[in-house]
Amino acid sequence: MGKTPVTVSQEELLRQQEYSQRIHQYYQEKLGRAPVACTDTYGCQQNESDSEILRGMMAQMGFTFTHEPEEADLVLFNTCAVREHAEMRVYGNVGALVHQKRRNPDLIVAVCGCMAQQERVAEKIKKSFPVVDLLFGTHVLYKFPQLLWRRLEGGKRVFDISGDASGVILEGVEPNRDRSVKAWLPIMYGCDNFCSYCIVPYVRGRERSREPEQIIAEFRSLLAAGARDITLLGQNVNSYGKNTQAGWDFADLLDRLCQEEGEFLIRFMTSHPKDASEKLFQVMAGNPKAAKHLHLPFQSGSSRVLREMNRSYNREQYLELIDLARKYMPDMTLSSDVIVGFPNETQEEFEETLSLIEKVRFDNLFTFIYSKREGTVAAKIDDKVTMEEKKRRFQQLLEVQNRIANEQNALLVGQTMTVLVDGVGQDEEYPLTARTQGQKLLRLKGAGEGRIGQFVQAKVTKHTTWSLFGEIQD
Ligand code: SAH
Ligand code: SF4
Ligand code: F3S
Repeated sequence: MGKTPVTVSQEELLRQQEYSQRIHQYYQEKLGRAPVACTDTYGCQQNESDSEILRGMMAQMGFTFTHEPEEADLVLFNTCAVREHAEMRVYGNVGALVHQKRRNPDLIVAVCGCMAQQERVAEKIKKSFPVVDLLFGTHVLYKFPQLLWRRLEGGKRVFDISGDASGVILEGVEPNRDRSVKAWLPIMYGCDNFCSYCIVPYVRGRERSREPEQIIAEFRSLLAAGARDITLLGQNVNSYGKNTQAGWDFADLLDRLCQEEGEFLIRFMTSHPKDASEKLFQVMAGNPKAAKHLHLPFQSGSSRVLREMNRSYNREQYLELIDLARKYMPDMTLSSDVIVGFPNETQEEFEETLSLIEKVRFDNLFTFIYSKREGTVAAKIDDKVTMEEKKRRFQQLLEVQNRIANEQNALLVGQTMTVLVDGVGQDEEYPLTARTQGQKLLRLKGAGEGRIGQFVQAKVTKHTTWSLFGEIQD
């Protein structure tokens, strides 16, 4: 057993609130109006959730929010490091603020998140992006008010990527959430898996879980605020609970949350195949409020590549796990992540990936070309496969998956199912949008916006590769 993770103390929270008050006052005096912030979030749901916390802090500082950087007094980039492309986009968008800053020297440009946590990146931004006023890593997210105050008060640029990898848990900051029907609820942070290609464990620190009582309290307040589709978040939710005082595992937590009063649906991501248990499938199958959807990344169909990736399961074990899940939930929706072009992946090994997706028939697949991440184990491999070849494989994978997704959607035509109406879309004939239990987009005919937030019975009447169309059955 490791030690119980450290929660940011009450005194520290109060100290940060004091800084928020000072910032509030500073802007009142300077601008005579509420300051405006724009947050630009990259990467996964964990980052979306962190941005909600950061916006919660900014609300305490008196900020209102905009989606337009041109209207903002503060632009915050919450960045992702998982692939090179994500980093390049951030550099481009940060650079684009140079003109705005020339017009308005008081504009504050801040960069945080996974990319910022890397020393190499912090150095590069310090040297080559003088437009950036403030940079802070994932371990000191809770110190955002203090760091911003230092910049406002002292005028000098502030860089802080301190904190050790054991990380902390931040409780007690009210997130500023965008959406009311759907909500993210983080249950754990960090990752201990060190898949050989992946930067996440280096930038997010060690795995640590929130206590169930904190999660249950937040879950209840989400329901009270109108959330009906709640996603429990973590890099590896199946290993939830290690070193918590309560000692619950993930299946226990899910089971307990499903007992709450009211109409709602619980989802979770991401699951790691090595920790997904029969107990979890039993709990999912036995609880109508648990969405019958499993996002279970396989990454590669080749056992050799999986070993090189340090994934701790092989092709056969993955397939057996899918069979087990389907035994409990025959109609379950399945999605996954896959990487093509891992260093020295052969054509035969790539074909094993294709044959795995033909076998499992995922409803949805998130496909990535391997991206070398400095500091990871796989980055040291001398890769003989060309980018051209990787792109060709990627294209082939997309074609196969698109066909399967289309065929999977076709199976749903004629079925009636319970769906949550979540918004208004672009299609004139089918104006309402809804999500199935499997997260599929279903466009609905008729009935007004009053339906948003309601669970309705809907019949699927037609499909495309990307969405379903249907009618409400009153
Ligand atoms: N914790 C989750 C996912 C984290 S990152 C899990 O393990 O499933 C989301 C996805 O990005 C991963 O599942 C993987 O498919 C992809 N990914 C991670 N590192 C990558 C890299 N270096 N190159 C390409 N894709 C990568
Ligand atoms: Fe990365 Fe693997 Fe952790 Fe997922 S489980 S975040 S892929 S190291
Ligand atoms: Fe990216 Fe960090 Fe998420 S690297 S995928 S934002 S955990």
